[in-house]
Amino acid sequence: MQKQHLETVTEKITEQASTELLELIALPPDTHNIAPKSVVFAEPICFPQCSPPGYEYLPDEVIIYNPQRHLALEKPTTIYRLGDLGYEESIIAKFPTNLAITSPIRLLSESGVAALYEVSLALQRYRQGCERIPNMVRGAVYRSKFVRDLCLCPVVTEFLSEIAGTPLAPHSMPLMLGHFNFAPQDLTQAVDKWHTDTIAFDYVLMVTDPSQLLGGKFQYFNGTKEEGAEILKYAEDLPEDRIITPVFPGAGYAVLQQGNMVMHRATGLMYPAERITMVNGYVSLDVNFPDQSRFADMKAVDEHHVLFPEWARYKAWRSRSQLDAMIQELPFTNDRTALCAALRSAIADVEAAIADIEQTDESKMLYYGS
Ligand SMILES: [Fe+2]
Repeated sequence: MQKQHLETVTEKITEQASTELLELIALPPDTHNIAPKSVVFAEPICFPQCSPPGYEYLPDEVIIYNPQRHLALEKPTTIYRLGDLGYEESIIAKFPTNLAITSPIRLLSESGVAALYEVSLALQRYRQGCERIPNMVRGAVYRSKFVRDLCLCPVVTEFLSEIAGTPLAPHSMPLMLGHFNFAPQDLTQAVDKWHTDTIAFDYVLMVTDPSQLLGGKFQYFNGTKEEGAEILKYAEDLPEDRIITPVFPGAGYAVLQQGNMVMHRATGLMYPAERITMVNGYVSLDVNFPDQSRFADMKAVDEHHVLFPEWARYKAWRSRSQLDAMIQELPFTNDRTALCAALRSAIADVEAAIADIEQTDESKMLYYGS
């Protein structure tokens, strides 16, 4: 009788432990109002100690980033949610926040704008192009200490995390920080064609004042990315009444977006003019959610001796954080299937990185329309 009672109790404990384990490896809950029990936020990765070969800091850079002088943070008046763009709840549940895109928010003071503008001009010597973006600078955080410190600034990160409703950190891959777009020489070309971003979170910051320009507009599609892609298979452009053009009051304003879920572009200019934007990437510190990055797109643009180690570090960080959470929370259980599933889930990012780096095929950047 006593033995039977003990077995029943053991079964109950095992059953409960199995449920906890399943919770640990299960997909995130389908509501963002209730935090999952097992959320352990990851510690952000450190910025590399040394720059990659071929990347040096500007020798004549004199402005030192100072958040008190260079920032002028003002919250957005409106935040559009993924649901507003037509995404269904079952899709939204796969993301750490339902943020889609904000109305323009002020990030930089006048002094901040002047400093970033000056650095942007110096960085133009490193410009490169690709099929989607004709005139850009990558790896600016390895070249400008001002850009590096602005992009890594904890004051900005905290401000944006609050808006996003989930803890963010500057992107673990420095190549995804401080990306600059400049106006193309060829006026028939868009500054950046319809696309979704290769990473999850970013802001698009106006370095120059866009309000007086004819053309050169940042725009996004009022719809899901799948719907946008489908329309652009057959039509030259997305329907005008579903294209939203945010009004930026001036330089120093930005939109924060979950850029891989918002189809957006920057239109071509109607006449030669100066137009500079800076895009800064962020990661969610809740690594329980699937990684949204598109490595194939990155591989088509960035130098491999920089990108591959950055990708390896980033994916190692994601797996390490998931392993750390598992080590802290793993319950006692004899459920071998669930244990192995938890281990596999934690190392999935590293496995994916190995496959990505081993893959020697050429890849293309994904964009829509011409
Ligand atoms: Fe983008």
